[in-house]
Amino acid sequence: MADTKDAQATVSDGGAEYLIRHTTLRQLQVLEAICRLGSFTRAAEELFLSQPTVSMQIKKLADTLGTPLFRQTGRSVEPTDAGRQVYASCREILGSLSNLDVKLSDLKQLRRGRLRLGVLTTAASVAPEILGAFCLRYPGIDVSLQVTNREHIAERLRAHDDDLYVTGQPREDDDEIETTPFAPNPLVMVARADHPLVQERDIPLARLAGENLILREPGSGIRDAVLKHFTALGVQPQVRMELGSNEAIKHAIVGGLGISALSLHSLTLESAGGQLALLDVEGFPIMRRWHLVYWRGRELSLVARTFLDFAMEYEPEVRARLAEAQAAFDRTRLKHSRPEEPA
Ligand code: PGA
Repeated sequence: MADTKDAQATVSDGGAEYLIRHTTLRQLQVLEAICRLGSFTRAAEELFLSQPTVSMQIKKLADTLGTPLFRQTGRSVEPTDAGRQVYASCREILGSLSNLDVKLSDLKQLRRGRLRLGVLTTAASVAPEILGAFCLRYPGIDVSLQVTNREHIAERLRAHDDDLYVTGQPREDDDEIETTPFAPNPLVMVARADHPLVQERDIPLARLAGENLILREPGSGIRDAVLKHFTALGVQPQVRMELGSNEAIKHAIVGGLGISALSLHSLTLESAGGQLALLDVEGFPIMRRWHLVYWRGRELSLVARTFLDFAMEYEPEVRARLAEAQAAFDRTRLKHSRPEEPA
């Protein structure tokens, strides 16, 4: 049925659909060359085709369009009015194809492109640094970075909002996502530097039951990990407040509102001494790990694949920064635990 209908269709009643089915890019290319060069022979030479092939392509195109495209004038050919119209369209189509070719080759060589990254709040301090180094190497790539909690990252992943994610521990049974283990993400218990527990070692978790605990918002991976740890050890925390940002939590600790668990990554700037200190509490640091994750059913773009490899190369630097932060906190604690030197 469809074939009969198709055979009966003409260029005037079939419109673009008819042309798409019956013309070829090769025919358009041949017509363009003949018009530009003013000769079938020269067009054949330029396209490395035989002259009969060129004539055949033009005949098929003219049949499809239902109108002659060239007329003989003496020894040369010139396009008819219809031929001129087709020529104008051909130039647009072929021009746009050659632009596409340039754009694709730019993409292949990573001269241009776009990277959409979704990261956990705990990676907010690390991701911009890696992106900065990446953009130095590939300056033509536009980057968008979304920072949000574990639950929202999972939603973004399901909705395919970004190319790649830095997330926590993926569910083991989730075979729809591809995961690459990335840097460690230790959760540490943080207090104000003058908190009485700062100088104590091996603090049992039960000792924290009487402390005001500041928790992240529901949906946060840190919150889940901390509550799970308290439950596992049978300790009931005294939750003083919930805050939706790691930065706000740091300010609340400094403000004397309580203690909280944070990723050591989010404390690198504070590690050199100052208003925050780590508590040596049973079960802390809670050792977690980030993962680079993407949806298995969707092919990773070249830019995203390149970023993934770049981030893996950068990982030792992230680890080193973490070790430095831990060492700096340890030094500060030691300094404060030594009795004052006699004058
Ligand atoms: P989040 O981060 O608390 O912002 O969800 C969790 C994590 O680092 O695992």
